[in-house]
Amino acid sequence: MHINTENPGMDVERLLFTEEQIAKRVAELGAQLTKDYAGKRPVVVCILRGASFFFVDLCRQMKLDVEIDFIDVSSYGSGTQSSGVIRMVKDLDTDIEGRDVLLVEDIVDSGLTLKHLRQLLGTRSPASIRVCCLLNKQAAHPVELNCEYNGFEIGNEFVVGYGLDYAEHYRNLPYIGVLKPEVYAD
Ligand code: IMP
Repeated sequence: MHINTENPGMDVERLLFTEEQIAKRVAELGAQLTKDYAGKRPVVVCILRGASFFFVDLCRQMKLDVEIDFIDVSSYGSGTQSSGVIRMVKDLDTDIEGRDVLLVEDIVDSGLTLKHLRQLLGTRSPASIRVCCLLNKQAAHPVELNCEYNGFEIGNEFVVGYGLDYAEHYRNLPYIGVLKPEVYAD
């Protein structure tokens, strides 16, 4: 790993979405969710840790009474490819029986994480489960579509910033960019 810890932004090869572009898209998603959940009180669930920046901004754009909760599942370790192994690190505190659940995810790649979470939470008899993800790589890996709400479609590239990490670096970059491949080369 060759991480520029002095100036992490220098490890970004190409800017994908600026702060302004992200804010605009998050506001659009929030407006859509406000309409779709009108009259309801959804439990909005942040899938830690990558979705945290998106989750907070999105909740602020939902003009509704929402309840928030957090769940942490781990599927990646410090590599750049899904291992297919998912481990529950922190479960929800809320009883979701009869509730409308909105899962907020940073990025969908293989879709394994969401498939697992939907199955698991589905056994708790919620009224509904929907997913809002900021970034979707599924054009590169066509499996069953996992998200009802999508921010942006991206190619099969490893991206960081706005909550997304590589080996716990880069999360607080305010924009989203493609990481230089030499950073994770051996
Ligand atoms: P999936 O199970 O293959 O869909 O992987 C989803 C999870 O992998 C996301 O929640 C991220 O934590 C991580 N991930 C996938 N692609 C990227 C990426 O390009 N940058 C950072 N994390 C990623």
